[in-house]
Amino acid sequence: MNDLATLESDLLGQVDAAPDEAALESVRVSALGKKGAVSELLKTLGAMSPEERKAKGPLINGLRDKVHGAIANRKEALAEAALERRLQAERIDVTLPVREGPETRGRIHPISQVMDELTAIFADMGFSVAEGPDIETDFYNFTALNFPPGHPAREMHDTFFLKPDQKGERKVLRTHTSPVQIRTMLSKAPPIRVICPGRTYRHDSDQTHTPMFHQVEGLVIDRHANIAHMKWILEEFCKAFFEVESVKMRFRPSFFPFTEPSAEVDIQCLRKGGEIRFGEGDDWLEILGCGMVHPNVLENCKLDPDVYQGFAWGMGIDRIAMLKYGMPDLRPFFEADVRWLEHYGFRPLDLPSLVGGLTS
Ligand code: DAH
Repeated sequence: MNDLATLESDLLGQVDAAPDEAALESVRVSALGKKGAVSELLKTLGAMSPEERKAKGPLINGLRDKVHGAIANRKEALAEAALERRLQAERIDVTLPVREGPETRGRIHPISQVMDELTAIFADMGFSVAEGPDIETDFYNFTALNFPPGHPAREMHDTFFLKPDQKGERKVLRTHTSPVQIRTMLSKAPPIRVICPGRTYRHDSDQTHTPMFHQVEGLVIDRHANIAHMKWILEEFCKAFFEVESVKMRFRPSFFPFTEPSAEVDIQCLRKGGEIRFGEGDDWLEILGCGMVHPNVLENCKLDPDVYQGFAWGMGIDRIAMLKYGMPDLRPFFEADVRWLEHYGFRPLDLPSLVGGLTS
């Protein structure tokens, strides 16, 4: 074999053996680069006699073309192999189900949902939201609300008492949201329109009672706020909340120390099997207590009962949630069982609103 043939087979061998594009590039430089073996040979053509050039020229040029062609082929093969490897490695099975993100998997607890619904409904009627502490003084929970000391009405609430503090004062876990009425009247000048949703506590536990539960209080104080206004507000609330066209309500005389007159309100319903439907039927279901704020309560809040009057109501949030969403037992509300929450919970991005629908 002459030198050219040796060089050719050597270079083509190297091209074929190049494992990747970088290795191939260095073969190219060593053959066809400025100082490459083939380039050096090409440079010798100039110094040759015309006959010699005629004989060698085509051979050297042929060698250059062969090496050039082999490199191009090898390059293409390497690129194809690399693409194939990448396609294999990045393969996606588009038939797999999409995994849900936290914003779609999480659930809003029915209590939070109902609180949001209540807030949307009453905000639309010009109410704001007021809050108070869960640990209350006897004054706010009872005395200011016209429960006289030792009065049996205090026993109506199975109160949780805390240990007496240094001053001998025994705080309580608030038994209702009514103390927030007092806090509001003492801190804000009328006109007042607030709702006060929150946690409440009583020593009680069965299918429809838990030691911690939720209430929402409503309070309106103005110079002329009267029972007709209250009836309208409660009726509008019931229609919006239960998402029905019309609803009949029944006001039964009742007693609460902080209202006079007081009433308990039933709404029309239809009981069928285990199910309850609102806005139809001949049955009644109690949903709230209400009344005109007692003059003693106004006075306890430094408001003149000859100038100001108003009304208030209180309602169990858990209870209306159970009624609206058909949950038979209250206890699982507080058991933090994910399966229950997945079943009864609400999608976090479906915010209740009157225009968009409370539970669209
Ligand atoms: N605080 C009462 C309770 O827990 C509910 C209630 C009744 C609140 C009448 C009111 C009202 O504001 O006017 O049983």
